[in-house]
Amino acid sequence: MGCSGFFSAAVMLIFFVGCFMAVPEVVAANHGGVTRHYKFRIRMKNITRLCRTKSIVAVNGKFPGPRVVAREGDRLFVKVVNHVPNNITIHWHGIRQLRSGWADGPAYITQCPIQTGQSYVYNFTITGQRGTLFWHAHISWLRATVYGPLIILPRRNESYPFVKPYKEVPILFGEWFNADPEAVINQSLQTGAGPNVSDAYTLNGLPGPLYNCSAKDTFKLKVKPGKTYMLRLINAALNDELFFSIANHSFTVVEADASYVKPFETDTLVIAPGQTTNVLLKTKSPAPSATFFMLARPYFTGTGTIDNTTVAGILEYENPSSSSLKNVPLLKPVLPAINATNVVANFSNKFRSLATTKFPANVPQKVDKKFFFTVSLGSNPCPKNQTCQGPNGTKFAASMNNVSFALPSTALLQSYFFSKSNGVFTTDFPDFPLHPFNYTGTPPNNTHVINGTTKVEVIPFNTSVEVVLQETSILGAESHPLHLHGYNFYVVGQGFGNFDPKSDPPKFNLVDPVERNTVGVPSGGWVAIRFQADNPGVWLMHCHFDVHLSWGLRMAWIILDGKLPNQKLPPPPSDLPKC
Ligand code: C2O
Repeated sequence: MGCSGFFSAAVMLIFFVGCFMAVPEVVAANHGGVTRHYKFRIRMKNITRLCRTKSIVAVNGKFPGPRVVAREGDRLFVKVVNHVPNNITIHWHGIRQLRSGWADGPAYITQCPIQTGQSYVYNFTITGQRGTLFWHAHISWLRATVYGPLIILPRRNESYPFVKPYKEVPILFGEWFNADPEAVINQSLQTGAGPNVSDAYTLNGLPGPLYNCSAKDTFKLKVKPGKTYMLRLINAALNDELFFSIANHSFTVVEADASYVKPFETDTLVIAPGQTTNVLLKTKSPAPSATFFMLARPYFTGTGTIDNTTVAGILEYENPSSSSLKNVPLLKPVLPAINATNVVANFSNKFRSLATTKFPANVPQKVDKKFFFTVSLGSNPCPKNQTCQGPNGTKFAASMNNVSFALPSTALLQSYFFSKSNGVFTTDFPDFPLHPFNYTGTPPNNTHVINGTTKVEVIPFNTSVEVVLQETSILGAESHPLHLHGYNFYVVGQGFGNFDPKSDPPKFNLVDPVERNTVGVPSGGWVAIRFQADNPGVWLMHCHFDVHLSWGLRMAWIILDGKLPNQKLPPPPSDLPKC
């Protein structure tokens, strides 16, 4: 039985019960929802794209991976069994994981990897979220092929705060490498050079007709005239923010990162890796005698090389009255220039929380603790007896507050929980840059980052936190999609140039700022976020470009337990993998 195509919300749920459930019955539980069991078998799979066949790491033999569908309030039990040579973990990107940090998934942060032949059950409840998220591998670059949709429907008997769509269609953007992505990043880390770029982007795993030898691998969205479709867009690409547009059609954006937003119209979307968004697409009536390209290609302002190709899918109306589809024109949308930072800024400024009584924007009005983190590229000196191919013969690195995160060899959450931090991490991550400079001006000559111990930021339970993320011009200004695990945050302000602690905060939106888990720190600019630290555990914050993540653009928060029993992180499950 195939699991592609698209379904109405209700049908989708029933369908997926049959398609992916390891245990056929859905068990009613005492948290208002039901418990849903899934099984992920990680296996190698042969797959052909761009006329080359290769072996990829895949889940249940699917690429992209299987959809996980649940309702708000449900509990998920996902048993992941590793049948491949690689270590693996799965991250449920955007899930709050309230007091279930053991199920979050980033390797060496909340768990040791699941080794070959081992398994682990991710056990978590979906609380206060509804919309589109995704799951992906969270170790090295395995998420290149190990990713899939995570769809959260409203509770039974609850509806969307917008017109009920006729159909819902997940659209996943991905990035395809002819080579093994693991070899690509390993080589880059070895030589210090930027990694080889991808060979194609994909739309639901398909590169489309604009690539050589790829026309048969084209995603087609067949629609009826005069209906409202909801596209669940997911950017699962490794290293690229994307513009997306459909010729002669526009979208109404209704949700971002599984939070509703005030609806707004746009004909072009910008979506960064780690971001998800639901948009309504109203089809024309009567059916036009044309078909329409849906195109995506990158937004980029940096100095490195990137894959600047275009993925295409096709929007096709069902039986356009008379004419055969062969003779109708295929229209192309016009996408913004590759470096159209103004388009990106205008687009991201349109996002506002719904901020209703039912879906309030609980943005912290008072801040207990302020942080200022630079987000930056940088370099490491070339080891003796080696030649390096990074900037000026160095090795590429990346950092926050100039600290390039050292990945520990055991998981931080266990070390913290069992009070065995000695030799694993230190709690001296800088709250502010140690050596302030003109972040977006002429870059300093010394671009070296700080390595050494794994540094974390510790804060008490329920602290209200503000973080200003400041991009820098070191080795070229570029946008960085910053993702926080375990939380949504409110994006209270953003701007270009250096953040000004006097003149910028009065302009913050503390009424209806958008609530997200991933925000683009503007190229040559800053963004301010706020969140209430109400979820105890160890939470990674990082650039969702895997290349920057690999270079160290990450840090971890430890949110301490509160006093009450329901403010404490429970002990780990017994099957938690060991390092
Ligand atoms: Cu989508 Cu730390 O990840």
